[in-house]
Formats: sequence, C-alpha cells, structure tokens
Amino acid sequence: MHLEKDCNMHTNAQPVQNITLLAIESSCDDTAAAIICDGKILSNIVTSQDVHQKYGGVVPELASRSHQKNIVPVVDLALKQAKISLMELDGIVFTQGPGLLGSLLVGNSFAKGLALSLNKPLIAVNHIDAHVLAHLIDNPKIPFPFLCLLVSGGHTQIVKVNSVSDMEILGKTIDDAAGEAFDKAAKILGLPYPGGPLIDKYAVTGNPLAYKFSTGKVPDFNFSFSGFKTAVLYFIRDKMAEDATFIDTNLSDICASIQHTIVTYLLSKLKTAALQTNIKHIAIAGGVAANSGLRNNLKSMADKYNWTTYIPKFEYCTDNAGMIAMAGYHKFLVGDTAEINITAFASLKNK
Ligand code: KG4
Ligand code: ZN
Repeated sequence: MHLEKDCNMHTNAQPVQNITLLAIESSCDDTAAAIICDGKILSNIVTSQDVHQKYGGVVPELASRSHQKNIVPVVDLALKQAKISLMELDGIVFTQGPGLLGSLLVGNSFAKGLALSLNKPLIAVNHIDAHVLAHLIDNPKIPFPFLCLLVSGGHTQIVKVNSVSDMEILGKTIDDAAGEAFDKAAKILGLPYPGGPLIDKYAVTGNPLAYKFSTGKVPDFNFSFSGFKTAVLYFIRDKMAEDATFIDTNLSDICASIQHTIVTYLLSKLKTAALQTNIKHIAIAGGVAANSGLRNNLKSMADKYNWTTYIPKFEYCTDNAGMIAMAGYHKFLVGDTAEINITAFASLKNK
C-alpha cells in the first residue's frame, strides 16, 4: 500500500497542496531546523550553544564548529517530531544571510548537499525578512500593510510590510542594534552573555525611573545606541568609584532603568512611524521582541492609539527555523528557488 503524505493529519485545517519543506537556520549561535507543511509548522527545533557564555559574546570559530556537531541531530529531530521522512520533502530552505560567515556556511553546505542528494529545490532566505514573516506562523491572515519593529542582536529596523515579498525599511540603527545595547549594558554590569534576558528578569522588581540614560538623537525613524552604551559605562564607573557595592545593591533598579530607556526610545520612533503612515496594524519581531517591558508598553500604547498588535510567541522571536520555513514556503509558492551553487552571504541586506 502506498501512503500519501498528509500535512493535515496534524491539524484540523483545510486540505491544500501538501507542500513539505525542511528549513535550516545557522546564522549565529543557534542551530535550528523546522518542518513546514502547507504553511503550518510541524516541528521547530533549536539547539543553543552555551560554549560562548564564558567569553561574553559569540566566538565565530566555536559557533561554526558547534553547528557542524549539532546540525545532523537537530535536522533528524525536526523530521522525527513532524513524522516526515526525507523522501517526503519538496524542498530545502536555508538562511543565506546576514550572519556569521562560518556559521552560515554550515547550514548552506548541509542544505545544498541534501537538496542535491534528494534532487529537490533549494530555497535561500534572508534572516531579517524571516524574522518579520514569523508573524505569518500564528497569523496567516495578518493584514498588509503592517508596521514591524524588528529588534534583534544584529538589527534594529522599522519596516513597512506591504506583502510577503515587499518590505520597505523606514528607519534603522546607524550603529548598534537594540539587542546589542541590552547585551553591552549587561556586560558592563558583569552579567553573562546574552544579557538581554537577564536585564529583563532583574528589571521586573526594579524602578524604571531610578536612573536616567541618554539615547541617540538621530533624525526620522533611525536609531543610535552607541551613546547610550557609553552613558551606562560612565554612570556605572562613577557610581562604583563611590561605592563598590553599587551594582549588587541596585541591580534591579539599574536593569529596570536600562530597559525603560531602550523600550521608550524604540516605541517613541515606532509611534511616530505609525502616526505618519497612518498604519494601525503594528508588529514586533526579533529576539528583543521577547522583552516583557517592550511587550507590555506596546500593549499600553496600542490601547491609547487603537492599534491592533502582533507579538510572536517567544519561540518565534529569538532565532528559530520556523520563521525560515515560513519565509521559504512563500518563496517556494512563487517558484523563487536558488541555484545549487548559491553561497552564504554574511552581509546580505534585506533591501
Ligand atoms: O533574534 P535573535 O535571537 O538573534 C539575532 O538575529 O540577533 O536576537 C538575539 C538578541 C540578543 O541580543 C538577546 O540579548 C536579545 O535578543 N534578547 C532579549 C530578550 N531575549 C532575547 N533582549 C531583551 N529582553 C529579552 N527578554
Ligand atoms: Zn535573528
């Protein structure tokens, strides 16, 4: 008996075309694989690399070695959880860039090898576009255009999303990304990498107005975080010179104030962009979208301005292959496949 694969056996959704893709994400320090079938994520596996913590940041050489070690078991688990065999795949999606070249090359080579051996198409995805398109996972009917504040460890942008394939960058950071601002501030406080989630954790019990830090004054919808980082550095240096226990005794207030400064800065630009474009569908994406302060303040702002907000589940905020799968699925639908000699591109732009 020949068993036809059936994506819909996993859900109650309407039967469609049974297009099944494997997606691989390896742009930084997370090795991830996901299976998507007719736009539904059947599995989404991520393995994080703890090896970087003691170095205070991602060490590129260690990241690519860990990807090499993790990629086979991660892909295997994604297939098993989705109950899909390699022979049932219609294509292989991978992150082409931007990211760390050595890390990207691992996913790129693996995807190429698999596509060649299965004689299936290869689909190259831009990591930043994929963060934005992560919204389609839980909101397949999200209305266009929507505005998306994309905030990750490498990028900070306000994007006007006109369709799955048409995104306009309204503004972006001219130096550090918001995630970097969190991580660098955390490092100044002696917290391990990545510090963003820890600042969020300690901020919960702190006073967000305890301390003030300046933010970059750049025009339009652009951002600058380098001055903020310096402001935190000098503030902590001066306070520690007066009292060596300052960080320990005031950690919650310091973290709450850092978080409040970053979140207020991000949301003030997002608000202006929403008012100027008159768009009321507002989304956040990327690792920093996991921040509780950003989520809560966005919701309050949305109540005030009558916005509908789109906030992804935590697992689809930080780097994951589910979002790569979704971006790849939409490219596959329009026949946007890649040549087999395509290579990773560390500084790939999203526009
Ligand atoms: O999107 P992502 O996983 O990777 C990149 O593409 O960069 O984002 C990682 C960034 C890191 O800077 C991390 O500190 C930050 O997202 N992050 C957070 C939180 N969770 C992750 N920042 C603040 N609060 C959080 N809860
Ligand atoms: Zn990312």
